[in-house]
Amino acid sequence: MKLSRRVTETQPYLFHLIDEKRKAAQERGIDVLSLAIGDPDMPTPDFVIDLMNEEMRDPRNHQYPSYKGEPDFCEMVSNWFEKRFTVKLDAQHEIMATIGAKDAVSHLPFVFIDPGDTALVTDPGYPVYEAAIGFAGGKPVRVPLLEERGFLPDLTAIPGDVASAARFIIVNYPNNPTAAVADESFFEDLVSFAKKHDLVILADNAYSEVYFEPEDKPISIMQIPGAKDLSIEIHSFSKTFNMTGWRMGFVVGSKALIDAFLTLKSNFDSGVFMAVQRTAARALGHPEARLFNEHRTQLFKKRRDTIAGALEELGFRFKLPRASYYFWVRIPDMYSSSVVFCADLLEKQGLVVTPGVGYGPSGEDFFRISMTSPNDKIEKAMERLRNFVKGL
Ligand SMILES: Cc1ncc(COP(=O)(O)O)c(C=O)c1O
Repeated sequence: MKLSRRVTETQPYLFHLIDEKRKAAQERGIDVLSLAIGDPDMPTPDFVIDLMNEEMRDPRNHQYPSYKGEPDFCEMVSNWFEKRFTVKLDAQHEIMATIGAKDAVSHLPFVFIDPGDTALVTDPGYPVYEAAIGFAGGKPVRVPLLEERGFLPDLTAIPGDVASAARFIIVNYPNNPTAAVADESFFEDLVSFAKKHDLVILADNAYSEVYFEPEDKPISIMQIPGAKDLSIEIHSFSKTFNMTGWRMGFVVGSKALIDAFLTLKSNFDSGVFMAVQRTAARALGHPEARLFNEHRTQLFKKRRDTIAGALEELGFRFKLPRASYYFWVRIPDMYSSSVVFCADLLEKQGLVVTPGVGYGPSGEDFFRISMTSPNDKIEKAMERLRNFVKGL
């Protein structure tokens, strides 16, 4: 059997590897506690389940969906987009349903890349970006995200010929793994940069609804004049309504960009179960959505404070997360490898966190803690971290 280089030359998925390590530690009798993955621990809210029960019973939802997304799904998303971001989108041409945000970020490179082409990716970044560029036959060019720049890329440091040779740049704010947020002026600079170098912008906004203070409420790149013609923004219901398992997202952009993506997607899959589409879109406009979001914010603030308190007490260096689910923390000075630090923490205290290098070489001095666990589990995990630091 001969496997393609596409598969043999790609690293297994980061969280698959972490899962294997966790299982192996458990088999060795270690009591393992994991703050690794960003999967909300709370269930999908009742009001969403109730909508799904209705939609499941509607036989019009039982057939193949349209490739682009149901017209009423696109209409409801368009209404939400206008309310949330003050941007009017043409529901018929500028919105497309996807099987979660991962479907979009993993397949969009195929729309823009021919074998040998390059694309700019932020480092550290969600690992799928680089893998997907590779699968499409392209080469990722890493743009470092440094703490002193608030984990925003320094666009002026990218050589002009490198930028002009690339097909697209992918950015993600609120950011996984650094928890950084980007403001309007960053997106304005990004749009000017993309225009100058004839680049498409892929803006992953999967965490648009997960933030802590009103002043950090994420914006959409579509709010920047001229952005729509050269950008595709990626959205997800996973984090918005604790719906990671439902696999529902959408992308927005100009008709030309959406049509190009549709050519690819309509050959790859057959859309999202219509009951899920309609449930998710109705949830956006549901009267309980705002309350749910406020409740979630309070809950995560409590978790954030528990973790921040422990990290501060233990002398770890980090910035308080402003959005997303994550703490991006410097490994202790005595370590020079995030993998070794995380392996020691697992071996000695049974605590799983994610090594920063898994998100790219610029993450080597960091590890990521996810807040998607109940507070009592987080307190237990912080106790283990305390014991670990005591033993250093
Ligand atoms: C930055 C980023 N983009 C996309 C995704 C995938 O989201 P979805 O569940 O909608 O596929 C994730 C999931 O963790 C993520 O962190």
